[in-house]
Amino acid sequence: MNLFDVYPLNDIEITKAAGSAVWDANGQEYLDLYGGHAVISIGHTHPHYVRRLTEQLNKVGFYSNSVKIPLQQQLAEKLGQVSGKADYQLFLCNSGAEANENALKLASFYNNRKKVVAFKGAFHGRTSLAVAATDNPKIVAPVNQTDNIIFLPHNNEVALEETFAAQGHEIAAVIIEGIQGVGGIVEASKSFLQKIRSLCDQYDAVYIADSVQCGYGRTGHFYSHDYAGVQADVYTMAKGMGNGFPVAGISIAPKFKPWHGMLGTTFGGNHLACAAALAVLEVIEQENLISKAKETGDYLVGELKKIAGVNAVRGRGLMIGIDLPEALSQVKKNLLFKHHIFTGEAKPNVIRLLPALTLSKEEADVFLTAFKAELATQAQATY
Ligand SMILES: Cc1ncc(COP(=O)(O)O)c(C=O)c1O
Repeated sequence: MNLFDVYPLNDIEITKAAGSAVWDANGQEYLDLYGGHAVISIGHTHPHYVRRLTEQLNKVGFYSNSVKIPLQQQLAEKLGQVSGKADYQLFLCNSGAEANENALKLASFYNNRKKVVAFKGAFHGRTSLAVAATDNPKIVAPVNQTDNIIFLPHNNEVALEETFAAQGHEIAAVIIEGIQGVGGIVEASKSFLQKIRSLCDQYDAVYIADSVQCGYGRTGHFYSHDYAGVQADVYTMAKGMGNGFPVAGISIAPKFKPWHGMLGTTFGGNHLACAAALAVLEVIEQENLISKAKETGDYLVGELKKIAGVNAVRGRGLMIGIDLPEALSQVKKNLLFKHHIFTGEAKPNVIRLLPALTLSKEEADVFLTAFKAELATQAQATY
């Protein structure tokens, strides 16, 4: 049997990892500024995380949601405390797309409406409604197509107001990433998020903050939406939540009332997933990782902005996009194969930095030195 070949792969096998370092099968060390796509939040193989998961696995790894799992309540309390939303309610699931599906479904149950506002450049996942709300027709199968999604230009308050004025009483939810990830590290402005909040209040629509990539402390706030000083009705989270263990969730405002059977999943909130998520929050708290992410991120952005030849540097904390001219399209590849540094990308030519929140200033400097050297080499070759 062969694998279904859907991923363009780098010819690298990772066999060992610690902190922000990974090693390949030949023993070559790499600096990881990609975090396996914003997933590694507290660093690879963090000792506290490994210990907690191992201990849990030796007790019980899984049982279904048909019995009490006290770890779920412990996780809800810890998440409420660290995220500053102690009065919210937690539903646990397994992936970012599933979190968004559940958030959209919850919104529709709540106000009994069907329309969803999403934005140009958005990515919300690959399952039915999440992919329909994603701005990439190539990955929307005919079966996912629906007239229920209204795509609006990003950060355009007038278009949003006009849409609400015309059909506000049909709109179940507005879904928005605080900072678009796949879209190329594009921030929603403070005033745009505030406008979403006030229109959702006015029309009783649900504000869904997709925090799957930009959440979990990465931007220097627990949720990047916090930056705008607004409370969303539902926050969706995944990637950094389990530091690599598949776990996701939605944090739900008190006004939503659950009923048995309303949402559900087999694997969501299992013992191991909760142990992983608790370990992550404990480390975030113990090591002050939210302010560390802001500090290291501010330093990186400040230094990157000084470099000539870069179109733009966007983002906050450790969610950074370096927009490069088309002529410098080899930089990302050379960082990996010449300098042994993993970074992410976004189209057309944006390097995405999504490292662990534990990244040190020294590690940031290793990247900056390599990046400057690579830019100089490329510029020489091009001009
Ligand atoms: C903002 C955002 N939402 C949702 C998803 C989907 O998450 P998953 O791949 O875990 O389904 C992603 C994944 O990249 C994402 O970046």
